[in-house]
This record gives sequence, structure tokens and C-alpha cells, in this order.
Amino acid sequence: MISIEMLKKGIDNIFNTTNKKEDILQKICDYLKNEVSYYDWVGFYFKDEDKEQLKLAQFSGKPTQHTIIPFGKGICGQVAISNENFVVQDVTEQNNYISCGIEVKSEIVIPIFVNDENIGQIDIDSHTKNPFKKEDEELLEYICLQVSNILQ
Ligand code: SME
Repeated sequence: MISIEMLKKGIDNIFNTTNKKEDILQKICDYLKNEVSYYDWVGFYFKDEDKEQLKLAQFSGKPTQHTIIPFGKGICGQVAISNENFVVQDVTEQNNYISCGIEVKSEIVIPIFVNDENIGQIDIDSHTKNPFKKEDEELLEYICLQVSNILQ
């Protein structure tokens, strides 16, 4: 599998060669989904204006009906409140979970901060159980930091 260092380089390349924020976010989704075998759905949710809910922005993978997620609901909604990474190696162990399909076995959500405010997140679903390592968090935190910089 492609190394985390190579993945970071690929991500850097997207930021260096793309102008529009929307295009950068879409390319990140497509890139991660294509390069990491166990990333089956990659998307960005952002806080919906002044409402206590998340709104789906760019994504790569099967379209989901969960385009709006209230704060506190599901893994994503919990991260909107906790401000912390949420790594779910087995979704069947979570009660507060919103399913996007029976094929999804695990999920990782990393928050994005702008000026210390939690303004959104990257969300990844996997069809594999127990796939996530420390490197996944490291890579996704790296991406969220760069996304944060273009959203300032
Ligand atoms: N499973 C998420 C819902 C969003 S989908 O994974 C795209 C959750 O529990 O918040």
C-alpha cells in the first residue's frame, strides 16, 4: 500500500496545483478514496451557517441521504460537539450511529478547526472492520490542518 509520506505528498500537490477551495476538497476526496484501499467513502461535512447541524459538502463514493446531520447525532454529530477525533473500528458497537449502508463496517471522523472553532470534519467510511491505524489519524489531521488554512 502507498505510504503515508507519499499520501501527504499527493495531498500537498493538490493544494499547490488547485485554486478553488471546492475543487481542492473534491480532489482530496477522490484522491483518498482511490489511493487507500480501505477508504470506501470520503466526505467533508461543514457546520450549516448558524444552525446546530452539519451539511454535506464534497464527497467521493456512494451518494448518501444523510446530507444534514444534527449536532449530537451519529458519529459525525458527536464530533461536532466533542471536538475530538472519533475512530470507530466496528460500527456495530456504537448505539449513536447513522448507517449509510450495511456494507459500512468502520468509520473515522476528524474535526477541522478555524481559529479554534470546530467548523467541520472529514468523514471516512470503510467496508473493512478494524482498518484504522495511528497513521490514518496522522494523515487526516495533516489534511484537516491544511484545509483549515484555506478556509481562514
Ligand atoms: N455514519 C455517519 C453518517 C454519515 S455517513 O457515514 C456518510 C454518522 O454516524 O454520523
